Amino acid sequence: MTQHGFRFAGLGAALPDKLLTNDELAETMDTSDEWIRERTGIGSRYLGGTTSGLATEAAAAAMERANVGPEDIDQLLLATTTPDYMLPGTAPAVAENLGLDCGALDIQAACSGWVYGLVLANGFLLQGQKRILVVGAETLDRMTDYTDRGTGILFGNGAGAAVIETGGGGEILGWDLGADGKYIKILWAEHGDTMLMDGKEVFRQAVTAIQRSANAALDRAGLTVDDIDFVVPHQANVRIVEAAWKRLGFTMEQTGMRLEETGNTSAASIPLALDKVLDEGRISDGDTVMLIGFGAGMTWATTIVRWAGDARSATTA
Ligand code: ACO
Repeated sequence: MTQHGFRFAGLGAALPDKLLTNDELAETMDTSDEWIRERTGIGSRYLGGTTSGLATEAAAAAMERANVGPEDIDQLLLATTTPDYMLPGTAPAVAENLGLDCGALDIQAACSGWVYGLVLANGFLLQGQKRILVVGAETLDRMTDYTDRGTGILFGNGAGAAVIETGGGGEILGWDLGADGKYIKILWAEHGDTMLMDGKEVFRQAVTAIQRSANAALDRAGLTVDDIDFVVPHQANVRIVEAAWKRLGFTMEQTGMRLEETGNTSAASIPLALDKVLDEGRISDGDTVMLIGFGAGMTWATTIVRWAGDARSATTA
């Protein structure tokens, strides 16, 4: 589909220091480690930090791994649901911290934001830019009520980032972006308030959105499920992933997960999981990799990439 290439030159991740385990949550809420693990697959989540601070740390790690400096970045795209301020966006602060001299904008597409960013990055590369920094960063503790049994067990903070560059034999083979504003009020927050969620309806709509978006991206790429080597889904609830996989035909063995450690980190969850998967050496150049985001809005976003670039364990083994 594209001739210019799409290479993950480097990925980086950042998590704040404070870890909140299920057992610690159960000291202040009527719940248990067993219930949370069984219903969600989550064991802990990180709290603290700022969105711009975590984004800067993850982006700096990605740039170091890609061996590039601030002058090499042509565009900064920052996906976040939890900006530092109502005004301005958070991307200019991150650009300032990193010493970038380029365009910098926020993407608000909830948990789908980072995958939206990859598709936008591809567009910038097609327009002649060489290197795009795509960051997902969240401080969801600022809009989560940790006494609410529905949402308090799910969400945490973190950031992940990738330097995407031209060349290198990688490409976006297919993609799909979507939104359905009918579902705004199944997961939303008023200005200054904490999140409200209809958990059962989010579960149902998420499974449908994953299935629909994965199939749309496969169609656009002219591929089938059997052509996909590896999948990294948004990390919301392992049961959502299992239910969608049952319908699609993917296996958990070919799936990258980091949910147990981090909980749901919204726009940061896919790059955080990818960073772990790369540490484990589970993706190599030439693999066909699907990344699927879904979340509030509802929004959804899928890319299928022929992987090229950051393959750290493969090269250091
Ligand atoms: N601990 C212990 N018991 C609980 C808890 C809890 N944290 N929460 C609810 N319960 C109890 C309820 O009181 C109820 O008890 P009862 O049967 O005696 O009345 C029982 O457990 C079942 O409650 P439900 O609300 O029906 O629980 P459900 O199985 O739906 O699980 C959950 C709740 C985990 C929130 C689930 O609905 C879910 O994961 N939904 C998806 C949410 C999600 O992923 N949101 C992120 C979305 S954004 C995005 O990333 C897509």
